[in-house]
Amino acid sequence: MARHLITSALPYINGIKHLGNLVGSQLPADLYARYLRARGHEVMFICATDEHGTPAELAAARTGEAVADYCARMHGEQSALAAGFGLSFDHYGRSSSDRNRALTQHFAGRLAERGYIREVIEKQVYSHADKRFLPDRYIEGTCPNCGYDKARGDQCENCTKQLDPTDLINPRSAISGSTDLEVRETKHLYLRQSALKSEIAAWIDSKTDWPILTTSIAKKWLNDGDGLQDRGITRDLDWGVPVKRGDQDWPGMEGKVFYVWFDAPIEYIAATAEWADATGAGEEGWRRWWRLDEGAEDVTYTQFMGKDNVPFHTLSFPATLIGSGEPWKMVDYIKSFNYLTYDGGQFSTSQGRGVFMDQALEILPADYWRWWLLSHAPESGDSEFTWENFQQSVNKDLADVLGNFVSRVTKFCRSKFGETVPEGPAYGADEAALIAALTARLAAYDANMQAMEVRKSASELRAIWVLGNEYLQSAAPWTVFRTDPGKAAMQIRMGLNLIRLYAILSAPFIPFASARLLEAMGATDAAWPGDLTEALSALRPGHAFTVPDLLFAKISDEDREAWAERFKGVRR
Ligand code: MF3
Ligand code: ZN
Repeated sequence: MARHLITSALPYINGIKHLGNLVGSQLPADLYARYLRARGHEVMFICATDEHGTPAELAAARTGEAVADYCARMHGEQSALAAGFGLSFDHYGRSSSDRNRALTQHFAGRLAERGYIREVIEKQVYSHADKRFLPDRYIEGTCPNCGYDKARGDQCENCTKQLDPTDLINPRSAISGSTDLEVRETKHLYLRQSALKSEIAAWIDSKTDWPILTTSIAKKWLNDGDGLQDRGITRDLDWGVPVKRGDQDWPGMEGKVFYVWFDAPIEYIAATAEWADATGAGEEGWRRWWRLDEGAEDVTYTQFMGKDNVPFHTLSFPATLIGSGEPWKMVDYIKSFNYLTYDGGQFSTSQGRGVFMDQALEILPADYWRWWLLSHAPESGDSEFTWENFQQSVNKDLADVLGNFVSRVTKFCRSKFGETVPEGPAYGADEAALIAALTARLAAYDANMQAMEVRKSASELRAIWVLGNEYLQSAAPWTVFRTDPGKAAMQIRMGLNLIRLYAILSAPFIPFASARLLEAMGATDAAWPGDLTEALSALRPGHAFTVPDLLFAKISDEDREAWAERFKGVRR
């Protein structure tokens, strides 16, 4: 048994997330957390809403709410949707928490003491029409790197380059659209990342097992990018963590806040402290996950995120942790994802394009989405959501392969033997062959799950379901029953035990269906299987079960067409 800390990139508070966001971090993180828990490990799975910065202020301005009220409401909505999707966070925190305020100010204080912060008189874009500075997303324009014309002041969504507002070509205010802009001077704090470059480079170099996607982005920004230039970590905004050094005021920085990307990753730590506050685990309860001098030495820490987040997690956040000079736990493995596209284009929150988490759950239960998204996770490249593809995998994998197996076995048993596991002889040669095939597949499934190979894991799991179908097809208990009811009973006993096994193995992917199956099988023991001969004898003759209601309904062509039509435009 090991200790695993798992974090998912924190979703911005500004609106409901789309399926592309979900599959890019939270959902695969949940898969991994569920798997490790099932294998008996101690898991701390943390997520939170990322509540500061311009996205939150802009979104609140649109709804007319005070930004704090907006964030509180949206946090509630996002956590309800997370629960709806079965995301099994140990804690779903808020980056606007007291814990994060204190910890962010603490880090800034440490960095200042150690000489890693300098004060800079900076040029910032000021908007006459809006009577304010326009940091980050308050300003839009053309990306100097790739020419994308909707680049934001902090980062280009198209090429992932981190930007400063003054880099943009043809800049305009994102509030009013005004181009009546002026560059003015204002004082800000810069984190001297450049002074930490060799330490960060050595740390990245030591991560020889990282996936190529993660390492290539990290090295690109480290070496030929400008990822480790000194960066401004404060902003002229009202909403955010007030700039302080520890609990001391910072002369000249009154009325300013930390940049959202400075405080957001610190919330991984703070949210664990929020968890400790909520559960009564106490200070040592969270510190044993995060402080190397207080027990975190034996923690394995894995982060999940979309590729646009990689520079912040491989360069900026490590700069904060290393620069503090304190023994904080740093990430061991970063699993990053490409993008999910929607029907030939991008999912887009700002443009309301694609399917959003609330809409998805209105249409179908979470497991349908979890299965499709995870089995098509954008790992080696981008992947595309189409309604045809979604219909096909749901109907084939979930309804035909898994659902149909469950239904045939349980209904046949009920009609011939009643709702208890039937007697019959011991398993024979066909069953031994099945068990051998399953054992090989299970080893591959375990290996892929451990390696966080999400798509490969899904296809191994599917192959495990298929083996049961093939067995049932060739054993044909409905035919055997006519001449040898005892043998048919044994085959059905195997079938019922396979259902229990499938429920256990499938739970990380489709937890709701798995729970229903376990309940229908009256299974009290849901331990991850070791020896399969044993696991497939867990349900003894005479054990009562019930026939579950339809596990997965097929998606009809009419439904598919109606949904494609409904989601073809832009969300209003
Ligand atoms: N909110 C950011 C995004 O959606 C991710 C923040 S991850 C954190 O891209 F670590 F900084 F919190
Ligand atoms: Zn660009």
